[in-house]
Amino acid sequence: MDELELARQEIDRADAELAAAFVRRMEAASRIARYKIEQGLPVFDPAREARVLEQNAGRVASPPLREAYLRLLKCAMSLSRAYQRRLGAENDGALWVESERGGYGVTVARGALARAGELFDLDRRVLVVTDRGVPPAYAAGLAELCREPVMVTLDEGAAGKSLCGAERLWSVMLEHGFTRADCVCAVGGGSVGDAAGFAAACWMRGVDFYNVPTTLLAQADASIGGKTGLDQNGVKNLVGAFWPPKAVLIDPDLLKILPPRLLAEGMAEIVKMAVVSDGALLAEIEAGDPYEKIETLLLRALKIKRALVEADERDEGSRRLLNFGHTVGHGVEALAGGALYHGECVALGMLPMCTPALRARLIPLLQRLGLPTRCALEPERILAAALHDKKRTAQGIMAVFADEEGAGYCREISPDELKARIETGWNR
Ligand SMILES: NC(=O)c1ccc[n+]([C@@H]2O[C@H](COP(=O)([O-])OP(=O)(O)OC[C@H]3O[C@@H](n4cnc5c(N)ncnc54)[C@H](O)[C@@H]3O)[C@@H](O)[C@H]2O)c1
Repeated sequence: MDELELARQEIDRADAELAAAFVRRMEAASRIARYKIEQGLPVFDPAREARVLEQNAGRVASPPLREAYLRLLKCAMSLSRAYQRRLGAENDGALWVESERGGYGVTVARGALARAGELFDLDRRVLVVTDRGVPPAYAAGLAELCREPVMVTLDEGAAGKSLCGAERLWSVMLEHGFTRADCVCAVGGGSVGDAAGFAAACWMRGVDFYNVPTTLLAQADASIGGKTGLDQNGVKNLVGAFWPPKAVLIDPDLLKILPPRLLAEGMAEIVKMAVVSDGALLAEIEAGDPYEKIETLLLRALKIKRALVEADERDEGSRRLLNFGHTVGHGVEALAGGALYHGECVALGMLPMCTPALRARLIPLLQRLGLPTRCALEPERILAAALHDKKRTAQGIMAVFADEEGAGYCREISPDELKARIETGWNR
């Protein structure tokens, strides 16, 4: 056997030992995490991690190998942390979302904002980004928990979610000497989340991003999945990046003074997810006052979105189900000129894509939630606006349909069929 083959065999043996040692390490870490979670103790112990690194520094004699080994150990520790976090996150009813960048925890709990110091690593410079319409106490509450907070308040909505808004964030980061070790935290609706997430994705080619969504739409939908973006020349999300957050904190108490129309449009997104993916959730929304059980509804909606984004992080396939209601909805939104909110247009846009039986079920629910179910716009104009800028397929365009609750699917639709559906989708 030549020397090369012997060395390869040695590598195979070492890899097998490493794999067995890795599994033992992760299992021990999960036993510790379970015990600490049961006892209500903090799971992570940075002082012990530092001691472990120090102990191990002496175990490898060669200095360059020692450095490399310590990097490997740090990597194992960070995987243990992620594993422990998943156990912890899933145990207390919160979620863990896997992603290209290693996954992140989503905590859904009333009063969770006060626990941001435990859920996020705020022991560094933190760019706390909010906008003028978000109650200032929320960002101030988060800033109190940061070692070195730097606050920025953007203009509301599309004005802040722009290159101008992002440039402002980068200028402030430069002024305060932000490095790759620092982070960005959004405290606001989807506009703030998208702008702050994009700024974090680009700053020094990417720094940690935390998200505290404060509208129902952002809590139920925009907060997970890793999409960030800016509007440009009036076109939504024209510039953007996939940059998953490090952690998300969803505190339903922050919705207390959200205006009713904004609550309703967030609820439209939850209904959308139920219609395409979870018939039981639709029944749950229909039964009683949905706002009284908002934590449960949020968790279930987020689980639907999690399944879709984990399977299709880059939005190349199954994630398209989330576009239910959006084909016609975009057409209505373009023509309404700001008179209708996005979620209201999605509510209207869902109706033509359902069977008559499902539509008859959805109409009273949407009405009870304060969402529109009638539209006076001409079907011809809606069709033209809905098809504008859409990538055409051989048959027309791709759209999402629901023939029964919980079972959405994508297929091509011709312009004629879409027009017929718009004509019968709602009363004028
Ligand atoms: N990244 C994604 O996956 C994703 C998904 C869906 C939507 N989006 C984006 O999200 C944006 C819309 O988000 P939105 O609906 O949250 O709107 P928004 O962020 O523009 O907020 C709407 C208004 O509510 C105010 N507000 C926020 N929190 C409040 C609170 N707790 N109490 C009172 N007022 C509050 C804001 O100041 C703003 O005036 C769009 O730009 C859309 O493209 C992104």
